[in-house]
Amino acid sequence: MNGAVLVTGGTGVVGRALVSGLVATGRRVILLSRGMQPIRFANGAEHLHGDVAKPALGLEQTAYTQLAEQITSIYHLAARTDFKSSEVEEYVPINIDGCRNVLALAHRAGAHLHHVSTAFVCGTHAGRFGEHQLECGQKFRNGYEHSKFVAERELRRLADQNGVPLTVYRPSIILERKPDSASAIGFGPFVFLDAVFRLLLSPAYRQHGSGVIRIAGSSISQLPFIFDDDVARALLAISASDACKGQTYHLVAKQPFANTALEDIFNRAFGRKVACWVDQREFESRPPDKGERIIARKTAMYSPYLDLTVQFSRTNLDLVMGEDFCRSVTPDEVFRAFHYFLQAKKNSDNVVVHSTEQQAAVREYFTSFLPVIMGKNLIDNLVSLSCNFWITVEQLGHYSLVIDNGKLTDINTNRQGAFGYRIGAETFLQVVTGKMTPQQGFFNGSIEIEGKMLEALQTAVALEEFFRLKPFIV
Ligand SMILES: NC(=O)c1ccc[n+]([C@@H]2O[C@H](COP(=O)([O-])OP(=O)(O)OC[C@H]3O[C@@H](n4cnc5c(N)ncnc54)[C@H](OP(=O)(O)O)[C@@H]3O)[C@@H](O)[C@H]2O)c1
Repeated sequence: MNGAVLVTGGTGVVGRALVSGLVATGRRVILLSRGMQPIRFANGAEHLHGDVAKPALGLEQTAYTQLAEQITSIYHLAARTDFKSSEVEEYVPINIDGCRNVLALAHRAGAHLHHVSTAFVCGTHAGRFGEHQLECGQKFRNGYEHSKFVAERELRRLADQNGVPLTVYRPSIILERKPDSASAIGFGPFVFLDAVFRLLLSPAYRQHGSGVIRIAGSSISQLPFIFDDDVARALLAISASDACKGQTYHLVAKQPFANTALEDIFNRAFGRKVACWVDQREFESRPPDKGERIIARKTAMYSPYLDLTVQFSRTNLDLVMGEDFCRSVTPDEVFRAFHYFLQAKKNSDNVVVHSTEQQAAVREYFTSFLPVIMGKNLIDNLVSLSCNFWITVEQLGHYSLVIDNGKLTDINTNRQGAFGYRIGAETFLQVVTGKMTPQQGFFNGSIEIEGKMLEALQTAVALEEFFRLKPFIV
């Protein structure tokens, strides 16, 4: 138990959370990855350059022998996780041969192997799927699911044959709680966000877009989401007990996430209604437009997961861990993850919005984004704010806002009120997207005040939190 621990896949979504947790326990952690220098290297973990698809994990003989002498447990997370191919053969080297190679190391080291599989080894099975089940006549949606199924079956056989202690963990659909610019590559529901985000940015869509984008998916379907850090926490807690040897655990939340809630959060993240989930038959009566066809093509690999009919039981998990582990994800948590993702996309893609698009975005802010919150509190701690002011956006004209006891009660295109702000479209968008505070705008001269100076400054300070908490997504 006290020897070093090897983590494969430690640079991935779950691996990063797991490595941090393991390092915090004070154990010596060795992370194996294909990179010479793993990105976002977890503090305190050692790095070994290797490849699970190769015999001896691609290590020199001496390094392999030393590793086998030092480790007492292995967390095997490395996998090819995309759904690009329907052919299991394409996943064999990493997902199946990789498992055999890692098991061979566990055997040589006398180490306990913690294998991260997936709940979707159940394939297209409908109804309940238990932790004790594996083969149930299922078919597979893609080569990834199929390869994880074969890998799990093969590992069980080899572990039995060689007397290797094996524990299998099967997470469901993992969401990264706080995606950043390095991780915003798009996975699971983020693929839908990414596709819609890009479509909304395209100049053609901005001019001719047909409004709400329809995405095929059942409204009664439920998505078994779980957060990356909750998976890591459960892995750490379960693996700390010897009783987990020979067991399989579904790392799934008690309650899945309703598809209808996903639609709601999706639109909240964009700040307005941009998409809706519809039954496939809807497209027979009104065929998809160009934008909807683009979205369908880009998300085709993940769309079968919007129509799930499986329920994963978690008897073993509840038995050892109780209900506190793998909690059901809440709409607010999903919203925050989506929001981080969109922010990260904007930063990483270095999105350049040209001036005509900037002007269109400013108009959109006043005609679509703000009207949605008309009559509602801007944010909870602005309930005492009452004011009437105008904003003059260069080359666009005036917009006046009336705020009464924290509620937005009127927007019009007159120049009315006690004070106003003169601002360019670019600066305006930086402020309402939360990238620049109004104060920074005053200091660098990109925002000018007209009328009552003190009231204008106080109002801008008060609104700063609103821009931060309710950012506009361009
Ligand atoms: N994400 C999900 O929704 C989900 C759901 C259920 C189960 N799982 C399972 O959970 C595990 C972790 O998933 P994840 O989403 O965290 O994965 P991920 O973010 O896609 O990361 C994949 C990891 O595997 C490593 N890797 C890939 N090929 C490798 C090779 N040949 N040799 C060594 N390392 C290799 C990558 O490291 P380098 O590229 O740095 O080498 C990376 O660290 C996987 O086994 C996956 O099947 C994931």
